[in-house]
Amino acid sequence: MDQEIKIVLTNTPKEKPDQNHLGFGNYFTDHMFMMDYIEGQGWIDPRIIPYQNLSLDPAAMVFHYAQEVFEGLKAYRAADGRILLFRPDENMKRMNVSNDRLDIPALDEAFCIKALKELIKVEQDWVPSAEGTSLYIRPFIIAVDPSLGVHRASHYYFIIILSPVGAYYPEGLNPVKIYVESEYVRAVKGGVGFTKTGGNYASSIKAQSKAEGMHYTQVLWLDGVERKYIEEVGTMNVFFKIDGKIVTPGLEGSILSGITRKSSIEILKSWGYEVEERKLSIDEVEQAYRDGKLEEAFGTGTAAVISPIGELNYNGDIMPINNGEIGPVSHKLYETLTGIQWGKLKDEFNWVQEVK
Ligand code: COI
Repeated sequence: MDQEIKIVLTNTPKEKPDQNHLGFGNYFTDHMFMMDYIEGQGWIDPRIIPYQNLSLDPAAMVFHYAQEVFEGLKAYRAADGRILLFRPDENMKRMNVSNDRLDIPALDEAFCIKALKELIKVEQDWVPSAEGTSLYIRPFIIAVDPSLGVHRASHYYFIIILSPVGAYYPEGLNPVKIYVESEYVRAVKGGVGFTKTGGNYASSIKAQSKAEGMHYTQVLWLDGVERKYIEEVGTMNVFFKIDGKIVTPGLEGSILSGITRKSSIEILKSWGYEVEERKLSIDEVEQAYRDGKLEEAFGTGTAAVISPIGELNYNGDIMPINNGEIGPVSHKLYETLTGIQWGKLKDEFNWVQEVK
């Protein structure tokens, strides 16, 4: 696919928000990228247009049957002014994995990265430079045919919107408290747990509200069959340091294959840590806690970056981790990963792409 991307610029640019109070996902830039998929014609009409509301038929399939996928990645402002993307090829590859499971037509990954770079060039003044800020990128696809029959759609929109952001958690790099959810489940093998689709998040909201009601930041999901094995946290993959080794749940079909997860594993291994990707039961974590061997826990995600976990609550058993403080591994991992993302450290893994 090598179609020309049409560009229509806005006449009414918005005022940019204060970079020191961005929060997460509260502001959107002046333009968006959009293209249509029409059965028989493929992905057509790529365009960068002023950020605007969508006009959709109330019967649009996405409203009823949730045939949609999304991605999340970031652009970073380096100290020398360059704009850097972190592993965008991995996001586009994963979007096609989600597309396949949701029966949405595949995208041309290289073309989408080109479109994304074009959009960021148009919006370059929106990439923030304050400490800890970035431009969050949200590509998504929705089924838009007006039809109440449950079938694959014949018309989709692929859209990319951009949002200047600060930290996802108000805690920043301070450890978060996590509630282990044992009543509700997120996903089972054979379902859509490994995809980035809205339904996974819709079904998480009740448990999230329950956790927030108890002053926990997010929930830790257990497997949907035995409610025994650790899966992932609300918006991040999860790692534990037990007796010197790093353990994270394996990708067995029900958890998201996080790009920050994958990058963290590569960094940790490069430091000589043994990283085990395997089944990890909550009982094993509890036992390690009792034996004084649960040294650290942290989450990884594009939005969450590296987020230390300072406390777990499993059925009322409270497990403070590393005295509720940031552990040395989480801290070094945060510094290294963000150092590469912001262009402060040498990109030895070749993960960063400049937007130019
Ligand atoms: C991300 O980390 O990019 C995500 O997609 C999590 C999001 C649901 C906040």
